[in-house]
Amino acid sequence: MKSSLIALALACLSAVSAFAAESGAAPQAPASPAKVALTANPDAEIARLVKYKADAVKGQEAYTICRGCHKADASGKPEAGYPQLAGQHVSVLIKQMVDVRAGRRASPKMHPFIEGDVVATEEVADIAAYLNSLPIPANVQGEGEMLEHGEKLYTRQCASCHGKNGEGDAKKFIPRVAGQHYLYLYRQTLESRDHGRNNSNAKMVKLLQPYSEADIHAVSDYMSRLPVKR
Ligand code: HEC
Ligand code: HEC
Repeated sequence: MKSSLIALALACLSAVSAFAAESGAAPQAPASPAKVALTANPDAEIARLVKYKADAVKGQEAYTICRGCHKADASGKPEAGYPQLAGQHVSVLIKQMVDVRAGRRASPKMHPFIEGDVVATEEVADIAAYLNSLPIPANVQGEGEMLEHGEKLYTRQCASCHGKNGEGDAKKFIPRVAGQHYLYLYRQTLESRDHGRNNSNAKMVKLLQPYSEADIHAVSDYMSRLPVKR
């Protein structure tokens, strides 16, 4: 009885390890040592990458894998709420990529494409340099309802950080919102209010607590219409 139990346990173990070997082998590219992410300390990695002498030509090549979702001109997919990346601040792009790699920003769709065995650590900075250098294509704005209400909210509660013209602040890792698609802005603001994005600025999350969905619609529409100045 005892020996047959042990035999059963051994059979199960070998079946499990055979399965693990099989499922592990299938879709993964062999990870070269240079392609291992150093995300144990994301803040240190962000600080290093912001100072790294990035190469936009290498970045263009590394960006190839991103085009399916973010498009060749980095204009994103407005109808799906995929962000425009062209012209965003280098620091913001680096922080958001590292946050996703490190699991600090929830992005289940994108995560598999930006992991350490797909994009090398320095390529994060190269891609950011490339994207920042691109011209900003026209964005998709909201429907133009409640713009006065949106302006009031933005001027009172958002402009101090995101800037009067939505230009953001590269030094403080604050995203440019001017030129961004309405639907992306709406979803990110909603997710930030509901603590869904994880890496949203804490002060901003607090400000957003009393916001209704109509308020978020109004302020997002207003942001999507801010003039793009570089
Ligand atoms: C499967 C689709 C998909 C792929 C492939 C993808 N992304 Fe994304 N990306 C998204 C989505 C969707 C978001 C918006 C966040 C969310 O909803 O999760 C996003 C957000 C971002 C952001 C944050 C932008 C901001 O303003 O905060 C950056 C930066 C980014 N992606 C860069 C990249 C890069 C670089 C690659 C390639 C290495 C890539 N993405 C590949 C779907 C994708
Ligand atoms: C205290 C400064 C601060 C204030 C005030 C603030 N934000 Fe933000 N916001 C940030 C920072 C910082 C980020 C980037 C979060 C991160 O670190 O990932 C951000 C991100 C965002 C994003 C996502 C942009 C992107 O490209 O992913 C949106 C949308 C946004 N804020 C909207 C708003 C709105 C609407 C208001 C006003 C109600 C507001 N913010 C007020 C600091 C602020």
